[in-house]
Amino acid sequence: MTPMIPTEAEIPEAFRLGAPLHQREYLVGGELVQWEGPVNEVVSPVSVKDSDGVVRQRVLGSTPLLTTKESLLALEAAVKAWDLGRGAWPTLPVADRIAHVERFLKAMRDQRSPVVKLLMWEIGKPLKDAEKEFDRTVDYIVDTIAALKEADRHATRFMHEQGIMGQVRRVPMGVALCMGPYNYPLNETFSTLFPALLMGNPVVFKPAKFGVLLVQPLLQAFKECFPPGVVNVIYGRGRETVGALMASGKVDVLAFIGTSKGADDLKRMHPRPHRLKAVLGLDAKNIGVVMADADLDEAVRECVLGALSFNGQRCTAIKLIMVQRQLADAFVQRFTSEVEKLKAGAPWEPGVSLTALPEPGKTQYLEGLLDNAKQHGARVLNPHGGEVTGAFFRPAVVFGVTRAMRLWHEEQFGPLVPIAVFDDEQEVIDAVVESPFGQQVSLFGRDAVKLGRVIDACAHQVGRINLNCQCQRGPDSFPFNGRKDSAEGTLSVTDALRVFSIRTVVAAKATEANKQVVRTILTGRHSVFLSTDYLL
Ligand code: G3H
Repeated sequence: MTPMIPTEAEIPEAFRLGAPLHQREYLVGGELVQWEGPVNEVVSPVSVKDSDGVVRQRVLGSTPLLTTKESLLALEAAVKAWDLGRGAWPTLPVADRIAHVERFLKAMRDQRSPVVKLLMWEIGKPLKDAEKEFDRTVDYIVDTIAALKEADRHATRFMHEQGIMGQVRRVPMGVALCMGPYNYPLNETFSTLFPALLMGNPVVFKPAKFGVLLVQPLLQAFKECFPPGVVNVIYGRGRETVGALMASGKVDVLAFIGTSKGADDLKRMHPRPHRLKAVLGLDAKNIGVVMADADLDEAVRECVLGALSFNGQRCTAIKLIMVQRQLADAFVQRFTSEVEKLKAGAPWEPGVSLTALPEPGKTQYLEGLLDNAKQHGARVLNPHGGEVTGAFFRPAVVFGVTRAMRLWHEEQFGPLVPIAVFDDEQEVIDAVVESPFGQQVSLFGRDAVKLGRVIDACAHQVGRINLNCQCQRGPDSFPFNGRKDSAEGTLSVTDALRVFSIRTVVAAKATEANKQVVRTILTGRHSVFLSTDYLL
């Protein structure tokens, strides 16, 4: 199960990289600016065997390490495009904003192959998952456009209440700062970036810490498809770049997918927190609960997928399994044997689901968690679980996990599968209630009475309760949120449009004179806001 390291010649032609991609441009105020300063070397988690037989993680290229100065220039460009709400972009009719995004979509579709290839090389995402991430992102943008048209149609209706007539429409908030995570560097970032743009907010966008080069094939399209200052793309370390943006007080909406600590630090920097709207996707430690009467095949299949898809590097991954004692032996036996069947290798190899990890130091962190669990009495059930080869960490099924262990509490975000045993559902409920996290839970079982009790107990603790299936974000029309340290706000195709907008009402006493004024505004098309035109 340890991955074979390919030589350059063994890499299929379609996935081979040419010369390293030394990206030097960043996008500010509609210009691709050439960066001459320090850069960040981009190293792949994927290793390749050189002609001299030496195994090395492939160097993919480099990206700019901008400073506070360039980031603030990017912010100023967005502030100018916003122009206190009077800019061309926030005042553009919705149909015109959609036209810009549709132009971008066309250009984006043309870049599918290079982006998918970079998703594989930069973060080790298996080919099928990388393709899915790209296609899902395109679909998300298409669906967001459809949702915006639908909302626009509804907004044309006038409300009549207590002798007052009013029209309610959603308008942009201001300058948005969008940052996504490295595990879904395209999808999670674009699923806030595009709703922000479509609602009329100029954006500063900083790619995730890994999966950065893959934005390069889209930079030209961002430049060509949007007016100057509407999309600004900056690169570099968070400390030097986004810190100053927050401290300026000029960011109106923060969209951030990352750690709760990172989010707290960023929010604290804003001098007028009441003027900052935030939508945050944060830490999670979703529990998979396998009850004694669960369908064993289904529970094992879903728990393997839930715990180890993309090596467990999903915020929605199942990060702790609790199995009821009567089924524990059968479950762990079957689960371990299914984990052993998973294929490890390079991301482009057919059937591969386990790949090397992109974060430097991650394998050592996971080893630390594993050592701690073993010291407290846990056992690794699969023979080579936890073995490290380069950046590859062989999944470990860790049995007998208890509250005494770090693995019970910490979000491992990697291929370590902690399994604990419980006797009574109350133990599960206590674990969910006591947890500082509140994203999702998966319940596997058939007993309607017991399930109903646990559902009720979890309903005020987590954002989604999955029955007999793994935790997940999709479908993207479903609300995606969390409680406690797991999230702030809700994302979905329609919710994201709400996050980046606020409702404004035009209201008047429903007198004949007012009706006549409103009628004249409508028929004469004297207002973009107060209008009954709608998008088809
Ligand atoms: O990492 C968090 C993602 O939003 C998870 O999405 O459940 O579709 O893998 P997913």
